[in-house]
Amino acid sequence: MIGKRSGLDLETVLIKNLGRHSGQQITVEGWLYNRRSSGKIMFLIVRDGTGLLQGVVAKKEVGEEVFAKADQLTQESSLRLTGIVHEEPRSVGGYEMHVTNVEVIHIAQEYPITHKEHGVDFLAERRHLWIRTPRQTAILRVRSEIEHAFRDFFYQRDFVLADAPIITPAACEGTTTLFELDYHGEKAFLSQSGQLYSEANAMALGRIYCFGPTFRAEKSKTRRHLMEFWMIEAEMAFFDLEQNMRLQEDMVSYVVQRVLERCQNELKVLERDISKLENIKAPFPRISYTEAVEILNKAGEDFPWGEDFGAPHETIISSQFDRPVFVHRYPTAIKAFYMKPDPNDPKVVLGADLLAPEGYGEVIGGGQRIDDLALLEQRIAEHKLPVEAFEWYLDLRRYGSAPHSGFGLGLERTVAWICGLDHIRETIPFPRMLHKMYP
Ligand code: 4AD
Repeated sequence: MIGKRSGLDLETVLIKNLGRHSGQQITVEGWLYNRRSSGKIMFLIVRDGTGLLQGVVAKKEVGEEVFAKADQLTQESSLRLTGIVHEEPRSVGGYEMHVTNVEVIHIAQEYPITHKEHGVDFLAERRHLWIRTPRQTAILRVRSEIEHAFRDFFYQRDFVLADAPIITPAACEGTTTLFELDYHGEKAFLSQSGQLYSEANAMALGRIYCFGPTFRAEKSKTRRHLMEFWMIEAEMAFFDLEQNMRLQEDMVSYVVQRVLERCQNELKVLERDISKLENIKAPFPRISYTEAVEILNKAGEDFPWGEDFGAPHETIISSQFDRPVFVHRYPTAIKAFYMKPDPNDPKVVLGADLLAPEGYGEVIGGGQRIDDLALLEQRIAEHKLPVEAFEWYLDLRRYGSAPHSGFGLGLERTVAWICGLDHIRETIPFPRMLHKMYP
């Protein structure tokens, strides 16, 4: 049964904005989160996606009929509550409504996610419902704020939003993690990164960013890997590695401070230790890969120069710092084909990764790109990539090649860090994980 709007012609109010309506008669629309009753008085906890509100329904005030209607409400039934709101610090959300009318829109069937603890597998199978719980809505609201903050940051700095394609004819980040598809008889891949197209866009527009989904068929079942994740990628003509890092630290500081400013309620729901975020301000420390290897060996790791860091290594390195740390100048042999070798030491590249604190690992990968045609051709051959697919990319080095740099930030890893989550699966409404894509 879908109910009709009652005769009360009132604006509905979002629960998060109740503070603006204290003492007024208003209507809230939402779903029943929980209910307690003592025969004559009933407490309805309602959620609307922006917060929780406790409605107090007194039989004496609303009459038998409305009280009986409220009494049928099951968990997750949809409803409209009308009444006068006032501040009540002891109540969830800090406000309470003295209900004058309850309109039942739909009585929910027995809801599978109750208020007791459920295992993660049970919840993941029901992700379409799990996202309704206060913790999950808090995370998704922070995610939304982070996305807006990135866009505002770039907009304020005159960057052009230039979207990259999702269907691509060639690999950007190595051939082992490609999702292949049939493009009308031609082989194509889902994008691993918009970078190569961003480089073309930067040569056209100067400073650009793109923000879209990216795909990696990684055989990794870890708390940091998704098969489909969203990446903010920026590309700047005439930027060197140092300018690139400066932009990144300004961006990350801006985003963290925005979340602190605008998501206090959400961070409270998540029980995030805010003191760990308050000091996230530029400048961030910078260490070379070689210095990072020294840190590992001092910590007793016996780590050979030339290998890539795994998650435990990143945790050891980042634990030395109270804010994100740049690790720059990785060995050329372990980095992507497009990274520019350091002219002072070609064994390493002018690339930098940003490691988040508290063991959250790498959130940004980036660096300066090769701008020399012959060297880029050589690298493509060394990496056994099909040169024909990269002719357009090589054109960027034929016609007005310029030094340029860029980076990609993984949105979900950043959300996990800022929210203080144990696992990346909660950072996106519908995560795509190894062997798991339902619902
Ligand atoms: O270091 P990556 O592979 O860099 C690139 O793709 C560059 N082409 C970006 C650029 O310079 N425009 O990936 C960048 C970031 C990582 O630091 C990480 O945060 C995230 O993307 N990332 C993943 N996040 C979730 N699941 C995965 N499987 C990820 N792989 C990378």
